[in-house]
Amino acid sequence: MTQEAHVSQGPLTTEAGAPVADNQNSETAGVGGPVLVQDQLLLEKLAHFNRERIPERVVHARGAGAYGTFTVTADVTPYTRAAFLSEVGKQTEVFLRFSTVAGNLGAADAVRDPRGFAVKFYTEEGNYDLVGNNTPVFFIRDAIKFPDFIHTQKRDPYTGSQEADNVWDFWSLSPESTHQVTWLFGDRGIPASYRHMDGFGSHTFQWSNEAGEVFWVKYHFKTDQGIKNLTAEEAEVLAGKDPDSHQRDLREAIERGEFPSWTVGVQIMPAADAATYRFNPFDLTKVWPHADYPVITIGKLELNRNPRNIFAEVEQSIFSPAHFVPGIGPSPDKMLQGRLFAYGDAHRYRVGINADHLPVNRPHATEARTHSRDGYLYDGRHGGEKNYEPNSFGGPQQTGRALWQPFDGFTGGTGNHPTPVHAEDDDFVQAGNLYRLMTEAEKERLIANLAGFIAKVSREDIIERAIGNFRNADADFGKRLESAVQALRG
Ligand code: HEM
Repeated sequence: MTQEAHVSQGPLTTEAGAPVADNQNSETAGVGGPVLVQDQLLLEKLAHFNRERIPERVVHARGAGAYGTFTVTADVTPYTRAAFLSEVGKQTEVFLRFSTVAGNLGAADAVRDPRGFAVKFYTEEGNYDLVGNNTPVFFIRDAIKFPDFIHTQKRDPYTGSQEADNVWDFWSLSPESTHQVTWLFGDRGIPASYRHMDGFGSHTFQWSNEAGEVFWVKYHFKTDQGIKNLTAEEAEVLAGKDPDSHQRDLREAIERGEFPSWTVGVQIMPAADAATYRFNPFDLTKVWPHADYPVITIGKLELNRNPRNIFAEVEQSIFSPAHFVPGIGPSPDKMLQGRLFAYGDAHRYRVGINADHLPVNRPHATEARTHSRDGYLYDGRHGGEKNYEPNSFGGPQQTGRALWQPFDGFTGGTGNHPTPVHAEDDDFVQAGNLYRLMTEAEKERLIANLAGFIAKVSREDIIERAIGNFRNADADFGKRLESAVQALRG
């Protein structure tokens, strides 16, 4: 373990810096008497201790992070004007936080759950956050369903545990989840470690070049360590024996100098293709088959430095899908649009209004020059500068150029419109394709994993509806799953 030795010398002090005489015995009225209010050290210690925790993340509470470097390996200037991507060989510092989704802060790492893959690029034009997962798709396609979905993954209000009834009730009533669920219960559903899995931006994002031309992109991070997974049985044992398995593996690999890396690629769709592409390119439950848009390698991501203090740098780190830089922006994906609000709001609640001032969160390659200031734990960074714009006293000014290009092509009035359906879109086609791509052994494990969980559901109607979704994806898939569930339920 390469933990730092104590560097501070001299006497122990109170928070105000006064020397402490006795840190073992609190002050009493006489020998054996009651404790005195004038023992300010005791009161300070107890009060500070009571406030050591901040609210855990409402999802992705359990995680581990590391710093590293992103290096550009291909010329992408025809597609984006982002400065950190402007030259082959250019390097940008990054911080990456991996996580599981449903478990609380102290939960085990080796569980079947998507893994978060959140990257902060400290660019010279501000921090760019790509807050993705290890899966290319997601369970739902509209942010309005996210709180309900997460309620079914977390603890039931009555039992206080995750309940198979709730999980399968929601998934079976949300057939768009069939693709992601098929992925999650397949071999990649329990990665062996954070190093042995891929990452994805998952959503479609907008890139725009110097001339203002627009491209839609999807990000891929291919692990250079190779994919390694745990079977359900292996994970059950490991989760009990070493709940911190992923966190430990990442830290120890970096301590050994075995720096994990990922080859970074993008799928690029010219803006004009979007309206007529066979799948709605802004539907998060769908991938773009590589045959349609190949993955072009653009860079290398390496992690090479552990955080010094987990609370300061991992627990208090904040990532927001709304943190864009010039040349990169959102798409009309309804999930992404909801996320643009949700994260900043979570950070203000969880870490506070000045969360972006903390060392892990603030820009490292530029400075934030904003007129927003003050509030809890403000560090006085703006000195006596004017706090409004326009002003006649100098200071930072607006640029007049938007980070991303306008979207167009929308028709009709406002309304609660579902995501538009393209020629080959339905909720099952890509789940079926994924199933048919699997080897026989992979199919067997997928069906056993699904059946094991579905068999725990108490109601027949939910079980039938759940199996029906997989039947719609592929008749053989549905038939085999039905027999496996029946065999388990007797
Ligand atoms: C509309 C849908 C979604 C909403 C409302 C939502 C909301 C949230 C919230 C509130 C947090 C906690 C943030 C914090 O306290 O710092 C979070 C964390 C996270 N979410 Fe989402 N989420 C959504 C969908 C997604 C999707 C689709 C992905 C991946 C493709 C994703 C990846 C992550 C990751 C990686 C984290 C952890 C970030 C970190 O390490 O700090 N989320 N999400």
